[in-house]
Amino acid sequence: MPHPDTPGPALLPGAVIGVMGGGQLGRMLGQAARRLGYGVVVWTPEDDPPAAAVADRTIRAPFDDAAAELAFADAVDAVTVEFENVSADALERLAARVPVRPGAAVVRATQHRGAEKAFLRAAGLPHAPSVAVDDGAALAGALATIGLPAVLKTAGFGYDGKGQVRLRGGADAAVDLAAAEALAQSGPCVLEALVPLALELSVIVARAPNGEVATYPVFENAHADHVLDVTVVPARVASELRERAQALGVRVAEALDLVGLACVETFVLADGTLLVNEIAPRPHNSGHVTIEACETDQFEQQLRAVCGLPLGATALRSSGAMANLLGDLWQRGTPDWEGALALPGLHLHLYGKRSARPGRKMGNLSALAEHPDDAEALVRAGRDALRRGGTA
Ligand SMILES: Nc1ncnc2c1ncn2[C@@H]1O[C@H](COP(=O)(O)OP(=O)(O)O)[C@@H](O)[C@H]1O
Ligand SMILES: [Mg+2]
Repeated sequence: MPHPDTPGPALLPGAVIGVMGGGQLGRMLGQAARRLGYGVVVWTPEDDPPAAAVADRTIRAPFDDAAAELAFADAVDAVTVEFENVSADALERLAARVPVRPGAAVVRATQHRGAEKAFLRAAGLPHAPSVAVDDGAALAGALATIGLPAVLKTAGFGYDGKGQVRLRGGADAAVDLAAAEALAQSGPCVLEALVPLALELSVIVARAPNGEVATYPVFENAHADHVLDVTVVPARVASELRERAQALGVRVAEALDLVGLACVETFVLADGTLLVNEIAPRPHNSGHVTIEACETDQFEQQLRAVCGLPLGATALRSSGAMANLLGDLWQRGTPDWEGALALPGLHLHLYGKRSARPGRKMGNLSALAEHPDDAEALVRAGRDALRRGGTA
């Protein structure tokens, strides 16, 4: 049975925050929680979770482990998530014991692309045309509806462009179709029209139990190989477009009845049309620069929303930029940390991951500057400096 959230009294410093998931987002949430005097208990199936280093206690067990669920419920005063692929059923049961923010319904609606599209459609929120592809047999009909170019995405557990096949027609049509058929046969998928992107923006929005909302200045994202590469804030677009993006973020949070913090990944088309791509009901990689750039960073803001504290000011102290550090950087040996840190104003964040597999998010650089172009130039220069080292 669903448990609707009720505002209740705020959870004050000293309370214990339960975090489902143990990645870098949980680690940075844990750092914020510790700074404000909260306890942190992490529940994750991961072997070597980055968040464990900042947790008072880490429960290492699968999300369907009943004993772990009981131990977690006993140990915490509220539950939140650091990624959406956790058990929504467990969240629903936990909500009988403690506030769960975001709630199970929000996690359910955002962890499955089919459910997410159904939510967007029902809420009248703009998104690329899409149809569910429940099995291999449904692909041809879906292609007839959506047309080309299109992108087939797995419904669950996709990230960083994994589990996606693009269908463009032309010379590679047969190869693309074979790959799409294989993906469709592997489990439920969604077929989306591939839309011509002018730009990708992130809108990060927090919503408190009493309905108070706060949005961040809009972030501009550049991807490389489908993985977020560089984020710049504020987005270098007309203020009118930024305001429309923020308003869209608020509409999403309200339609979801979100309590917590979410990132609305937004597509901008050439004519200025905004489309919701996907919703992450937790802090987002594009928001890491809020640690330096904003009055309140996204992790503290999540904590404030989860605890029912007043939301923090989101204003920019200055323009900023963030560059991701993927495992690839380690391929030629240890990156040149000293070379990068010699650059004035460059901030290094590492997530404490032991093995640097190519494509794995190991850390990020961030920088502030009066103009966003200069902040971007500094994080790019920092990453170049890291690459120049590594000759082992
Ligand atoms: N319908 C689409 N039209 C154009 N580009 C798309 C579309 N869907 C995804 N992309 C591109 O692929 C990236 C990853 O897709 P996304 O759905 O956000 O998956 P992930 O879960 O891997 O982040 C997007 O940020 C965007 O650059
Ligand atoms: Mg995405």
